[in-house]
Amino acid sequence: MSLEEAKQVAANYAVDNFVFNNSILGIGSGSTVVYAVQRLAERVETENLKVTCVPTSFQAKRLITKHNLPLGELDTNPVIELTIDGADEVDSKMTLIKGGGGCLLQEKIIASCSNKLIVIADYTKDAKKLGDRYKKGIPIEVVPMAYVPIKKKIEAMFGGKAKLRKAIAKAGPVVTDNGNFILDWVFPNTDFEWEKVNQDLTMIPGVVETGLFVNMCYKAFFGQPEGHVVERD
Ligand code: A5P
Repeated sequence: MSLEEAKQVAANYAVDNFVFNNSILGIGSGSTVVYAVQRLAERVETENLKVTCVPTSFQAKRLITKHNLPLGELDTNPVIELTIDGADEVDSKMTLIKGGGGCLLQEKIIASCSNKLIVIADYTKDAKKLGDRYKKGIPIEVVPMAYVPIKKKIEAMFGGKAKLRKAIAKAGPVVTDNGNFILDWVFPNTDFEWEKVNQDLTMIPGVVETGLFVNMCYKAFFGQPEGHVVERD
């Protein structure tokens, strides 16, 4: 089974077993969520399911409208029953690295307003320790005018390297949905206490949010090469 098929089985499993009628859903970002939204649209069509979908990014909003699913906003749906999202890595304590696709801020806001956050991913995201498998570091969304001092502070506080994320199709940095830059902090191979690291990072003036999701994830589903799904909580 290919990686894409592994993402799809995890997405289908989550949508089939955790989405109920009359739910307010948070819709995550990234390539795995695409399969979840496809499955959700099928269920809405065949079962006449009623859902409201609150997006975590510009990409998620487009995905929702492309599939003619009812679009909601946080203003009118401040309590979300379930959010389904991807992750770049999940450690044995269910700490997540998110934001590989640049959408961490709205993803974390929506997750924080959700009764449950479910992660769907292929088997390569399932790790013992953060950094075991995902080597690009922890994405940190920062106010553009402060990215250089923030980079220096992060490196002085924790070691490693914080790199400004560069755009692929344009010269210059990636600009997030919120008009900010992203530093990818490639951390040293140390046993960090991630909750504390997250707190310390967010205390740096100009840091808007980190891609560290600590104690937020209810369950994670990993599609396996053999075609089954492994559940962790
Ligand atoms: C988006 O910025 C991310 O947080 C994604 O949820 C994460 O990168 C997982 O994406 P994939 O499903 O594409 O692996």
